[in-house]
Amino acid sequence: MSSSSSSIIISKVGFLGFTGKVGSSVLPNLIELNKQNKIKLILLHRQGSDLSKIAETENIEKRIIKLDENGLEINKKAIENLDIVVSTVGTTGFRAQIHLIDSLENSKSLKTFIHSDFGTNWTEDELQAPGLKMIKIKEDIVDYAKSKKVPLTSIRVGVLDEFFYKYPASGTYLPGNTVQVFRNSLKNKIRVTSIPFLGYAIAQLTINPISIANQITQLYDFNVSGEEIIQAWTNIQNGIKPEITYYTEDQYQKDLQVIGGFAIIAAVRAKWGDDNWGPSDQPKIDGWKLKTFEQHCRNFIQ
Ligand SMILES: NC(=O)c1ccc[n+]([C@@H]2O[C@H](COP(=O)([O-])OP(=O)(O)OC[C@H]3O[C@@H](n4cnc5c(N)ncnc54)[C@H](OP(=O)(O)O)[C@@H]3O)[C@@H](O)[C@H]2O)c1
Repeated sequence: MSSSSSSIIISKVGFLGFTGKVGSSVLPNLIELNKQNKIKLILLHRQGSDLSKIAETENIEKRIIKLDENGLEINKKAIENLDIVVSTVGTTGFRAQIHLIDSLENSKSLKTFIHSDFGTNWTEDELQAPGLKMIKIKEDIVDYAKSKKVPLTSIRVGVLDEFFYKYPASGTYLPGNTVQVFRNSLKNKIRVTSIPFLGYAIAQLTINPISIANQITQLYDFNVSGEEIIQAWTNIQNGIKPEITYYTEDQYQKDLQVIGGFAIIAAVRAKWGDDNWGPSDQPKIDGWKLKTFEQHCRNFIQ
C-alpha cells in the first residue's frame, strides 16, 4: 500500500451495519485501526440509526445512506473516495444492498465491496432446499454486483460460535452439555468462527483491500470433530461427558422445508456429517492469538 518510502496511502473504509450482532464486533477493531492511522474509518448509517455507541471523542466521520429507490444521490456522496465498503447488514437489509451497489458502480476509488455474507460455502444442490430460499438473496446480490462490475469480496465462515452452541435448538449446546450426532459428525470436523475473531479479522482485511478484491475469503478459528467437542466439554464439566443425541434423516428432511433457522441448522449438520465444507484456504490474519477450542469454550460459558 505504500506509494513511496515517505508516504503511506491508508485505506478509506466505509462501514455499515455496525449496530448489529456481527457489525458490533467489527466496530471496535476498525476504531482501533483508525486510531493507529492504519485506516480512515467512515461510518455509513441510515437516518435514525443508533449512534450512541460512537463516542464523540472518537472523531469518526459519519455519512448518511438511504438504501432505497430515492437514495442514489445521497449514497453516491456517502461512498465518495472510499477504497472499501464493508456491509454487515442483517436480513432486513440484504436486498437493500442493491442500492448501495448502484452507488458503487463506476466508483474510481473503490477496490472492493465486502457484502453481508458471513455464511458457509453452499453448493447449488444445497440451495435447492426450500428452507434455504433466503440464502439465495445473498447470491442475487453477488450476481447484481457482478452485472454492475463492482469488485466484490465474499467472506465465508463455518458457523458462528454463538449461533452454534449457545442455542439448545442446534442440538450441540454448551450450557446444556449436549452434543448431537448426524451421519459421520463424530469423526468429521465442523468449522467454527468465534465472533471476536470475525470482528478482528474483517477489520484487518480492510487495511489492504486490493489483496481481497474479487475473492471468496474463508475465516474460521476452530475446526473440530464431534469427538474433540465431546473431549473439550468433558474437561470443562470436570469429567461429566456431554449427553449424546442423534439427529434422524427423517427430521433432517422435515427441517429442510422450513424457511429460516431450522433449515440452515439442518444443512449445516449435513455439511458436518458429510465433511462437505468446500474451499478452506484462509488469509493470514496478523496479530490474532489463537486459543485452543477448550479455552475458547471455557471463556464462553464464564
Ligand atoms: N454463519 C452464521 O452462523 C451466521 C450467524 C448470524 C449471522 N450471520 C450473517 O451475518 C450478517 C449480519 O447478521 P447480524 O445477525 O449481525 O445482523 P443484525 O444484527 O440483524 O444487523 C442489523 C444491522 O443491519 C443494519 N440494517 C438493516 N437493514 C438495513 C437497511 N435497509 N439499510 C441500512 N442498514 C440496515 C442495521 O442498521 P440500523 O442500526 O440502522 O438498524 C443494523 O446495523 C448476515 O449476513 C447474516 O446472515 C451468519
